[in-house]
Amino acid sequence: MTPSIVATREYKFFMDGEWRESRSGETIDIHSPYLPEVIGKVQAVSRVEVDEAIEAAHLAQIKWADKSLQERSAYLYKWADELVHMQDEIAETIMKEVGKTLADAKKEVVRTADFIRYTVGEAQHINGESMRGDNFPGGSKSKLAIVERVPLGVVLAISPFNYPVNLSAAKIAPALIAGNAVIFKPATQGALSGTKMIQALHKAGLPNGIINLITGRGSDIGDYLVEHPGINMISFTGGTKTGKNLAKKSAMVPLVMELGGKDPAIVREDADLYEAANHIISGAFSYSGQRCTAIKRVLVHENVADELVKQLRVEVENLTVGSPEDGNTVVPLIDTKSADFVEGLIKDAARQGAEVLTGNKREGNLIYPTLIDYVNTEMRIAWEEPFGPVLPIIRCTSDEEAVNIANKSEYGLQTSIFTRDINKAFALASKIETGSVQINGRSERGPDHFPFLGVKGSGMGVQGIRKSIDSMTREKVIVLNLS
Ligand code: NAP
Ligand code: G3H
Repeated sequence: MTPSIVATREYKFFMDGEWRESRSGETIDIHSPYLPEVIGKVQAVSRVEVDEAIEAAHLAQIKWADKSLQERSAYLYKWADELVHMQDEIAETIMKEVGKTLADAKKEVVRTADFIRYTVGEAQHINGESMRGDNFPGGSKSKLAIVERVPLGVVLAISPFNYPVNLSAAKIAPALIAGNAVIFKPATQGALSGTKMIQALHKAGLPNGIINLITGRGSDIGDYLVEHPGINMISFTGGTKTGKNLAKKSAMVPLVMELGGKDPAIVREDADLYEAANHIISGAFSYSGQRCTAIKRVLVHENVADELVKQLRVEVENLTVGSPEDGNTVVPLIDTKSADFVEGLIKDAARQGAEVLTGNKREGNLIYPTLIDYVNTEMRIAWEEPFGPVLPIIRCTSDEEAVNIANKSEYGLQTSIFTRDINKAFALASKIETGSVQINGRSERGPDHFPFLGVKGSGMGVQGIRKSIDSMTREKVIVLNLS
C-alpha cells in the first residue's frame, strides 16, 4: 500500500476557534495498527494550554447558552451535513488509525450524522414543568414553581479508540445542544479521526471557544483535566481501570462513565441454535471483538453445547482475516500490548485444560479468531475482557448456573439470552445484573436513542440521546410567589 499524501502530516489542536501548535513543542506520532508507518502527528498540549482552553470555554459558554435553541440547532445540523460531505476522508482516517474496514468506518460517520440530527430533534421536544404549592399538604396555591433544564457549563468529553468519531460526537452533540461548551480529549490512537470530526464542526461555523480539542496522552494530561476546577461535568468512555481512577480523582462533578464489559450470551436448551450462532459470531468477532458490547463469553446448556459449538466452529473458520483495507472481519488489534494480552488469556486457558478448537495463531498484532471450549471459572478468560477475537464457551447444567456465572462478573454491560420461550426469557432477564438484556439478539449499543448503560464495573449514569442531554443539564427552579 502506498503511503497517502497526509501520511506524516502534523495536526494542530483547536482552542478558542483557532488551530494551534502546542507551545510544549512536542508532538505524538500516531502509528497505524496495520501499516508500518506513522500516519500523522498530534500536539502534546501543555497544562497551561489546558487552562487557557477551559477559560475560553467558560467565556464562550455564557453567550452560547443565551442563543435560542433554534440557533444552536442550525450549527449542529450544519455539522452533521459537513460530516456527510467529509465521510470519505474521515472514514479513510478511521480505517488507517484504528484498523476498521472502510465500510464500517463510513457507517460510523453516517451514524454520527444521524445521531447529531436526532439529538437536535430530541432537544426540541424537551420542556420543563410547573408545580403549584398546594399539591403538598399545607402548601399555598400562590406559590408556583417553574422547573427548567439549564446547561452545566463546561463539559469534559473523553473518548476511547474504537469508535473515535461516533463515541466522541455522542458526548459533544448533547453537550452543545443543551448550551454547554466542550473540552474534548480524544483517545490518542483516535486523535486524527477526532481532529477531522472537529474540522467538520469548525466548518459549520461554531462560535469560538465552544468546542476545544485537547490532544495529548491521558497518562500526561488526563488527571490534570479531570481534576481541573473549571470542569463542570465529565462524560467518559473507556476501560474500567481508567474509569475507576477518574472517579477517584474527580470531586463534586457529575460523572457519566461507559466502561468495559464481559457480555455473556446465555443459550438455553430450547434456543434456535442456528440463529443464536449467527448472532454470537457477529457479536463476538466483528471488528475483532474490539467493541464494548462484544459477546465475550457463551454460557450454553450442556445438552445443546456440542451442536452449538459445532456451528460456531464452522462460522469462526469462515471469518475473513487480514487487513481492514480488504474488508476483513478480523483485523489486527489496536496495538502490540493488546495482542499480547489476548494471547496471554488464550495461553492461560489452554494451560488449564480448555480445548482450543480453532485459531490461536498470531501474526504481529493480528490474532486469528479463536474459539475455546470447556472453559471453567478458574480460567482468566472466564472473567477478563479480552477486547480481541477470542470466544470462550462455558458449559452449564441449568439456567440458574448460567445466571450465577453471568452475575458473578465484575462487569454489567449487556447480556444476550437465546431461547424460544419468551416467558423464560423475561424471567431470566429480571435476574440478570446488566444495564440491558437482549432477547434473541447480539449485544449492541444501538439504536442510539435507546438508553445505554452499564452497571457495576461497566459504568455509571446513562447515555442514549435523551439521557445524555439530561445528564448534561440540571434542573433550575424559579418560584413565583403570587400575591
Ligand atoms: P482507555 O485506555 O481507558 O482510554 C480511554 C480514554 O481515556 C482515552 O482517551 C485515554 O487517553 C484516556 N485516559 C487515559 N488515562 C487517563 C487519565 N488518567 N485520565 C483521564 N483520561 C485518561 O480505553 P481504550 O483502550 O481507548 O478503549 C477500550 C476500553 O473502552 C474497553 O475496556 C472497552 O470496553 C471500553 N469501552 C466502553 C464503551 C462503553 O460504552 N461501555 C464503549 C467503548 C469502549 P489516551 O488514549 O491518551 O491514553
Ligand atoms: O464499543 C462500544 C460501542 O458503544 C459499541 O457500539 O454495539 O454499536 O458496536 P456497537
